[in-house]
Amino acid sequence: MPASGPNDPANMSDRKADHIELAFQSQMGTAQQDDRFNYEPMLSGYHNELPAYWFDNKKLGAPIWVSSMTGGTEKAYAINQHLAAACAEFGLGMGLGSCRPLLNGKSRFNDFNLRPIIGPDLPFYANLGIAQVSHLIHLNRQQEIVDLVADLHADGLIVHVNPLQEWLQPEGDRYAGPPVQVVEQLWSTTGLKVIVKEVGQGFGPDSLLALMKMPLVAIDFAALGGTNFALLEMLRSSEAVSHAYSALAQVGHSANQMIDMTNQLFDSQVALSCHTVIVSGGIRNFLDGYYCINKIKTNAVYGQASMLLRYAQESYQALREYLVLQIEGLKLANAFLKVKP
Ligand SMILES: Cc1cc2nc3c(=O)[nH]c(=O)nc-3n(C[C@H](O)[C@H](O)[C@H](O)COP(=O)(O)O)c2cc1C
Repeated sequence: MPASGPNDPANMSDRKADHIELAFQSQMGTAQQDDRFNYEPMLSGYHNELPAYWFDNKKLGAPIWVSSMTGGTEKAYAINQHLAAACAEFGLGMGLGSCRPLLNGKSRFNDFNLRPIIGPDLPFYANLGIAQVSHLIHLNRQQEIVDLVADLHADGLIVHVNPLQEWLQPEGDRYAGPPVQVVEQLWSTTGLKVIVKEVGQGFGPDSLLALMKMPLVAIDFAALGGTNFALLEMLRSSEAVSHAYSALAQVGHSANQMIDMTNQLFDSQVALSCHTVIVSGGIRNFLDGYYCINKIKTNAVYGQASMLLRYAQESYQALREYLVLQIEGLKLANAFLKVKP
């Protein structure tokens, strides 16, 4: 038995002393009980492996998706390098932030050129707003989208649909027609693999149904409850605009509400063509993520943006430490926590 192990007499007496010292600070009560899980300590051992998770026939090391964020600045370059390295090390999927700068030239290509870091075997998607996609389709220039995806060696394209954010931006786009038609035109005319996401308000049931009926690789909820781009745009705008429209930031659907909507769709007799979801928007930690992907009745991973950004902007080491702890937490959850039906 190693001298410095948990049974070492010196360690044991330190531990016992800590327990006496800290016991009074460790009174919990039940007000903050996490009621989402049944805790089942009797039925499983701890496994050092996570179950297999799949995304579009690519095997993941953990059910975590790096949600679309950034590119186009020096700081974004470093953040993306860290995020991509984490994908490679832990086997995660990644969506790029808006690749719009690449439609105007290649000067920021390296910010987005992450396939060489991520490697060929993990999901990696480019990203454009529906307004740019619509514009290019309208001009019959969708080949530029195909070329963008090919240049990045991406698996396909994430299209973000964000009418509230656009509307609140002085320079924002106004959609001329229904985004669902643009998405349909995109995959039918390019054959690209497509994921559709919001940016922090989620989708209502009718939009979700329209998306689920299309042969998308996945729908990324980007639900209400985390980073909120309506709010963010109001922070950028005048006091008058902010005052007039602040209530708009509260409009939308949470990840939990969207899981219920999705489950209702899968329980119904409606024919659905999209079978994978990235549950995202306000996912704070592995317990939130574990809950969501086990509650939903279809193939799912969970996505995080701001939580990963917090560490990725600091250093690779900080991001790595965060992910190691999250993945260890997922292993624990898999062993002992069952999501309540
Ligand atoms: C700094 C930052 C930049 C973002 N940029 C994009 C973007 O370019 N395209 C996009 O689809 N979503 C973008 N998002 C939205 C995220 O992908 C995600 O949907 C949203 O932040 C909700 O996730 P969260 O609560 O985990 O942050 C961005 C988010 C952050 C924090």
